[in-house]
Amino acid sequence: MNKLQIQDIYKSFHEHAVLQGVSFTANKGDVVALMGSSGSGKSTLLRCINLLTVPDDGIIQIDNQVLRFNASEKTVLSNKEIVELRKKVGMVFQQFNLWAHMTVLENLIEAPVHVLKQNRRDTIAEAKKLLAKVGLADKLDRYPGQLSGGQQQRAAIARSLMMKPEIMLFDEPTSALDPEMVGEVLNVMQQLANEGMTMLVATHELGFARRVANQSIFLDAGRIVEQGETKTMFSNPQTPRFRRFLEAMQH
Ligand SMILES: Nc1ncnc2c1ncn2[C@@H]1O[C@H](COP(=O)(O)OP(=O)(O)OP(=O)(O)O)[C@@H](O)[C@H]1O
Ligand SMILES: [Mg+2]
Repeated sequence: MNKLQIQDIYKSFHEHAVLQGVSFTANKGDVVALMGSSGSGKSTLLRCINLLTVPDDGIIQIDNQVLRFNASEKTVLSNKEIVELRKKVGMVFQQFNLWAHMTVLENLIEAPVHVLKQNRRDTIAEAKKLLAKVGLADKLDRYPGQLSGGQQQRAAIARSLMMKPEIMLFDEPTSALDPEMVGEVLNVMQQLANEGMTMLVATHELGFARRVANQSIFLDAGRIVEQGETKTMFSNPQTPRFRRFLEAMQH
């Protein structure tokens, strides 16, 4: 079954065409690595899928929800459509984005209790389970500022999972971390992938992409120039552009 289908997405900022007809499909359980040099449009694509940025044109389909954007008549999404989509799609950013004035536990239960109106006690129990899962069982009363970058990012992942998303988007989740903390975050992501979470991961961690992503996409100047099975793409790159990228990353 298709979880996520992106068709011919366009996005410009002023006159600058950042996404120029991007199409791909992710099936349930796929882990898709999104690669490309700086400015190629990775973050913009992820933000479009989460509607943090509204595409100019194209179609986004998640499960049965279809959103059509049309360049000739500006698309205005209803709040209901946005809420429905965001329930299904979680996003983790490079800069953790935890609420600084709340403890880790409060960060996790805030949206479920206040937005989804879940029962507080059950939600706390759920939060504790997720914190144990990401290795933070003993940190629930800490404030984000009292945690390492790797711990903050794991807390941010747990917070996102509290909403029970069907798809997780990761925007370079390890690139703001000290090297020794990268592994602990990648391990949590690997575990999520093993459990069958559908994931789209913008990353410069090619080792992780090769190990965990079954599908890969290479973006260049807002266009997909190569996509397919990760194994095949890495062992036998089809385009000179992607081959050059791989070579440059290995040095
Ligand atoms: N809100 C915005 N307003 C104007 N230009 C933008 C905006 N967001 C992104 N851009 C431009 O779009 C292009 C693609 O940016 P994007 O952040 O998607 O790239 P990226 O592939 O994520 O790069 P990086 O690897 O550096 O994170 C860049 O040239 C950027 O300056
Ligand atoms: Mg980016």
